[in-house]
Amino acid sequence: MSEPLRVAVIGAGHMGADHIQRIDRVVSGARVVAVADPDTGRAKDVVAGIDGVSVHADAMAALDAPDVQAVLIASPGPAHEEVLLAAFARDLPVLCEKPLTPDSAGALRVVEAEAGLGRRLAQVGFMRRYDAEYLRLKSLLDSGRLGRPLMLHCTHRNVSSPPGFTSVMLVNSSVSHEIDAARWLLGQELTAVTVLKPRPSSHAPEGLADPQLVLFETASGALVDVEIFVNSGFGYQVRCEAVCEGGSARIGDEHAMVVTTAEGAYEEVAQDYLVRFAQAYDQEVQAWVDATRQGRVTGPSAWDGYAAAAVAEAGVRAQESGVRTSVELAECPALYL
Ligand code: NAI
Repeated sequence: MSEPLRVAVIGAGHMGADHIQRIDRVVSGARVVAVADPDTGRAKDVVAGIDGVSVHADAMAALDAPDVQAVLIASPGPAHEEVLLAAFARDLPVLCEKPLTPDSAGALRVVEAEAGLGRRLAQVGFMRRYDAEYLRLKSLLDSGRLGRPLMLHCTHRNVSSPPGFTSVMLVNSSVSHEIDAARWLLGQELTAVTVLKPRPSSHAPEGLADPQLVLFETASGALVDVEIFVNSGFGYQVRCEAVCEGGSARIGDEHAMVVTTAEGAYEEVAQDYLVRFAQAYDQEVQAWVDATRQGRVTGPSAWDGYAAAAVAEAGVRAQESGVRTSVELAECPALYL
């Protein structure tokens, strides 16, 4: 295929706008031809300066715009299922921002619909799988050089939480990235979750349980602990250390610019995910475009999106009950094995 892939983008908020600019300026082999957002003024602002883009208030109108060949979903999670199913009905490949759907029942409906087609159309936006540091860690673990992984220690810190961010969202929104990264790095399902809450930071909004410690158990007996702290106040930090039988490996130490002044020296810290994972998003969207133009679907699957939703739900139950909670997964369709 020599013509660029013609993409409809659903949702023109933070991620949608970022992906639209990315497809326009960074990614090769694709162009945005339609955008849907109920806030059409926002959508028009985002596509100002990009030729040949139609703007729609309704996602279905964007899917049905002339010559659309693929869909990138960046609307809020509750709007994903309807668009995914509509894309499947139109035989359109989809890159869907995480979460696939906010609940595992919705995610399972998406999995079953895709399995019913007998071929993959959806990729889920777990972009850490495209981050250079995560890829090096994955490659090291897969090589077996360090022996069996026993534990992952993960840190996930944001500067501050957006308005309306709840204690539940620390687990089912923020930690969803660690859930997917742990499943992918270790190549196994997460089977149980325990959530512990220290006293909240005095910098957290009233009523927000922040930080929290989330402990996952895996199918072959490894442990994954995640510190999630969304009002750290100082930066966006994502770290992961794998402890294996024959050594350990750590990523996320931010060897960034070192600034030296009369007061001392410090390393700059990224302030948000759009900076820390900029190259991962670029790689993710480029890989999706390349595969789609070749008629292939790669990357995190709808099953990965379902599993992440099911683990996150167990995490929320564990958070509410204060006790270790098992993860219940449906049977994995053959399409994803
Ligand atoms: P946002 O609130 O900045 O933007 C959402 C946009 O979608 C708004 O412009 C809103 O008007 C529009 N919208 C609402 N309902 C819609 C519908 N039914 N159809 C089309 N557009 C609709 O949200 P943000 O941060 O851009 O998040 C969007 C998605 O990206 C979410 O699924 C979120 O979880 C995901 N996300 C992923 C990240 C990652 O690291 N992969 C990071 C941040 C968000």
